Amino acid sequence: MRPQLKKFIEQIGKDAIAIIPAAHEVTRSYDTEFKFHQDPDFYYLTGFPEPDAIAVIDPSNKKNPYTLFVRPRDPKMETWYGRREGTEGAKKNYGADKALPIEKFPQELAKMVNGHEKLFYRFGVDGKLDQQILTYLSAQRFRRLKTAYPPHTIVDPILLIHDMRLHKTPEEVELMQKSADIAAEAHILAMQSVKPEMNESQIESIIEHYFRMNGAAGVSYNSIIGGGANATILHYVENNAPLRDGDLLLIDAGAQYKGYASDITRTFPVNGRFTKPQRDIYDIVLDVEIKCLEATRKGTTIKERQKLSIELLTEGMKELGLLKGKTKDLIKKKAYEKYYMHGVGHYLGLDVHDAGRYFTDHRAKESRPFAPGMVLTVEPGIYVPVDAKDAPAKYRGIGVRIEDDVLVTEDGNVNLTAKVPKQAEEIEELMNNK
Ligand code: GLY
Ligand code: MN
Ligand code: MN
Repeated sequence: MRPQLKKFIEQIGKDAIAIIPAAHEVTRSYDTEFKFHQDPDFYYLTGFPEPDAIAVIDPSNKKNPYTLFVRPRDPKMETWYGRREGTEGAKKNYGADKALPIEKFPQELAKMVNGHEKLFYRFGVDGKLDQQILTYLSAQRFRRLKTAYPPHTIVDPILLIHDMRLHKTPEEVELMQKSADIAAEAHILAMQSVKPEMNESQIESIIEHYFRMNGAAGVSYNSIIGGGANATILHYVENNAPLRDGDLLLIDAGAQYKGYASDITRTFPVNGRFTKPQRDIYDIVLDVEIKCLEATRKGTTIKERQKLSIELLTEGMKELGLLKGKTKDLIKKKAYEKYYMHGVGHYLGLDVHDAGRYFTDHRAKESRPFAPGMVLTVEPGIYVPVDAKDAPAKYRGIGVRIEDDVLVTEDGNVNLTAKVPKQAEEIEELMNNK
């Protein structure tokens, strides 16, 4: 049994049972599907890679605490759509104590769940399963105190699972470092490969080719490859414009390695040399990134780090002439939002915007301090829209973001993505001396 599952069993307690579903395939068009992506919570607990499975976790069941419902072996289906583990594989290769065909789930439900005080299940994600569980609950409730004993408390398991996911084990950190290394090397390759008149799409393919050639399953989110003013669109994913001599290129791309995401952004000149206005903005963003990275340590809260990024970027925007006035007033008015409109970072793990609460209380009042084992991105940016009439003309259409992935440790942090150059001189050196 996976250590994560063992810990989950200890946490939910003996009077509970948990039902955790896998993801389903999603139709892309007509009779084709998108590439399958497993539900990260299900994957975290079970490691089982197939769609249409359900894990039932019953800590009080001494013999079979972990039952996995899976798609059964089926030679014809497997010839058309791919191999299946089946019930045997679920036990042998994924440590299930008991495995049953998924079709049996509705009829087994009452047998498994009756007699437990609490049911850990998240409503609102899988409509079909919700309906099966509601049908069971409403049928059983009439029988309560007579012949059945359905759970009286329904609990969302996600808070427990997400809190576990937030604190990475050494084994998870190792996978995240590998994901970060692959992505870092791909970014370096992109810097070495880009030339004016190449298309954003070609750079995307160079990066994603490198990911897959080096063991990653693919991307951890759709790559953002934005040349020139496309860099001012935060989630630009069209990635199909020609790259122009004299423009910057912003690349925000991360790999998915054994389920774990990396998330790196670098911004660099298409022709290998920053112009003066580009460099003015770049150096300010870099200075803020380095300071926010330094602040990503045990005890600092996400709110404090956000505030730091806002203060420093507001100062920087004043230096550039993008904003005018007293820093305090500009911050109060949120004047910076015109050029910096996102958070300075997020948790990173199986999801790129990973699981875990950012607050320590449910009213979202107290921001949560960073703790060893958390991995966060740090990603400040300045984006000057092409039509920003108040901005000096030389800065219009420039977007810069710099993003690293940082592990919080007992006595500081480790930058998992440190190997991609980010000092402007280092980038120019790399691009001009390949
Ligand atoms: N690539 C998405 C993000 O940086 O948050
Ligand atoms: Mn990113
Ligand atoms: Mn990010």
